[in-house]
Amino acid sequence: MIEKWIQPDVIKQPPYLVKTSSCQIKLNQNESPWDWPTEIKETISRRILSCGWNRYPELIPIELKEKIGAVCNVSKDRVIIGKGSNEVLQAIFTAVIRPKDSVCTLSPSFAVYKMLAEQKGAQINVSNLSSSFTVDESDLNRKASKSKLTIICNPNSPTGTLLPISVIEDILNNTSGLVVVDEAYVDFSGVTAVGLLTSYPNLIITRTFSKAFALAGFRIGFGLMDKNLATEIQKCLLPFNIDIPSIIALETILDNQELVKNRADQIINERDRLIQELNNIEGIEAHESRSNFFLVKTKLGVGKTFNYLAGKGILIRDVSSYPGLGSYIRITVGKPEENDTLIRAFREML
Ligand SMILES: Cc1ncc(COP(=O)(O)O)c(C=O)c1O
Repeated sequence: MIEKWIQPDVIKQPPYLVKTSSCQIKLNQNESPWDWPTEIKETISRRILSCGWNRYPELIPIELKEKIGAVCNVSKDRVIIGKGSNEVLQAIFTAVIRPKDSVCTLSPSFAVYKMLAEQKGAQINVSNLSSSFTVDESDLNRKASKSKLTIICNPNSPTGTLLPISVIEDILNNTSGLVVVDEAYVDFSGVTAVGLLTSYPNLIITRTFSKAFALAGFRIGFGLMDKNLATEIQKCLLPFNIDIPSIIALETILDNQELVKNRADQIINERDRLIQELNNIEGIEAHESRSNFFLVKTKLGVGKTFNYLAGKGILIRDVSSYPGLGSYIRITVGKPEENDTLIRAFREML
């Protein structure tokens, strides 16, 4: 019956699921482990209270575009804002992809790319990562050159692999299609393609405030691109998509970026410490990463490891259903004391 109404590409997709459990230490969604300080939350709350909730927000929040543009050193005409970078990605797919168009991406990578491509009826050209998660540059270039849209997560999720900007530039030179670089985790890699925007009108960069900026609960992300592209892709975002609380929260935290930078630096140090300490435990393989998460394989396997850690109050991500990751879990770097608990739990488990 449902087949009469819902298009087959949607019916065949599994729902997007995240395994949850009531754990005290949450290391499963690459969020910031630190909330915003109470004084800043109070400032945001006061500003939200003083607004009329009966009125729509700005159709497009221009001042916020300016502020975001200033953070990235680009003009506001190159910025579009979405409810999370997921919504920006969705608008890009809506504006660009028709059934049978080809979309190139890495595998494994962020699951939403494949989900959106399938929903638009696109053909997906994947470039597989090696067993040590490196990119086959010539394969990627070849597939990108035949695709209308190429989407690269840099650093990649869930592997943490970082492509140098020279590789992104090669792809841009080799394709007449659009190239989206998803920089959701840029604050932990320090490597950005923003410098290429003025030379390549086919480059789009997406970013989020859900990770290093600790605003996952508010749902805001953005895209940077050529201004003519921005005009067109903006049409595929729904009118009034960014609500008043999100605008206020983001404006306030953009005035407090020092804290974001300090915390990102701390996460980078903790990531490197964690990977090193876990690799010192026999029976664990923790992979290098340029993000705020990393992949881990243990000799006990995914199910037992997940359950053991959950029993100790630690929630990690089971990524074993991703192509090529059958024996892996993914761990988000937490606060130093949470990471200490994790290391202890792994030592006990093995
Ligand atoms: C690589 C990547 N891109 C985009 C997103 C979407 O982020 P949001 O919609 O919260 O901005 C995520 C979230 O996990 C992600 O990992």
